[in-house]
Amino acid sequence: MVTSRARPAAQNPISFEVRWFDTIDSTNTYLAAEASKGAPEGLVAVAQHQVAGRGRLGRSWTEPAGSSLLMSVLLRPRLGDDQLFWCSAALSMSACDASRAVAGVEAVLKWPNDLLVGTGKLAGVLAERVAPPARSQMVPAVVIGIGLNLNWLDGLPPTATSLSLHCGHEVDRTAVLEALIESLAFRYKSLFDPEGLASQMADYRTLCATLGTKVLVTMVGEQFSGTALDVTSEGRLLVETPNGARVVSAGDVVHLRPARKRPSG
Ligand code: BTN
Repeated sequence: MVTSRARPAAQNPISFEVRWFDTIDSTNTYLAAEASKGAPEGLVAVAQHQVAGRGRLGRSWTEPAGSSLLMSVLLRPRLGDDQLFWCSAALSMSACDASRAVAGVEAVLKWPNDLLVGTGKLAGVLAERVAPPARSQMVPAVVIGIGLNLNWLDGLPPTATSLSLHCGHEVDRTAVLEALIESLAFRYKSLFDPEGLASQMADYRTLCATLGTKVLVTMVGEQFSGTALDVTSEGRLLVETPNGARVVSAGDVVHLRPARKRPSG
């Protein structure tokens, strides 16, 4: 493991300590263990390869070694449970910012936090709560991990895509990581004042291609389709169905037709 420190901009509420691994089980699992021992917020784990990478909804996450940015960040946000969604949204939006800044690739979001280019999945995000150590006064941790396909060409699953596929050249992992952390520092800090939070919510709605799209929602024991109308202030997806409006907090969402272009702002 190699450790480096990054202080992206003045007045950040947190500084980041980056720990680099060649191979690890899962950067999320590693940081969850560190969080339960009391590690401070801002700890970042980055790996070349994961042997037990985890995805949403109990799925696994696999990739050829060196093909992706595999990173997780430990945060201890002083936010209510009903606002925690915006931490993972800050990470996924920061990944969009970094993809644009480093590779010139414009990614959009699929609710809740996937990055898409066209219909191809560029990245997935997994957020997990971790209780503080027993008898500690620490704020509970949130560990948020992203798997972002950088230089993955051969054997890419048909539903996935990568930055190098779109920009036509190899993409530097460290440059993407640094751009992501710089953006995350700003977006995360913004969550703690009402105006900043409102502006992050507005950015999310602009970037989220799910909104205005016909979707198929799969939840435990149930499936329905409808039109995704909005994201609530708790980050739930509001879907209009023939039987009335439904609010989705967890589940699998498939875009049934390509997202229409929405006006920005
Ligand atoms: C998804 O299912 O789309 C979410 C995938 C999240 C994968 C990332 S890779 C880095 C971090 N470590 C993990 O084990 N998972 C996340």
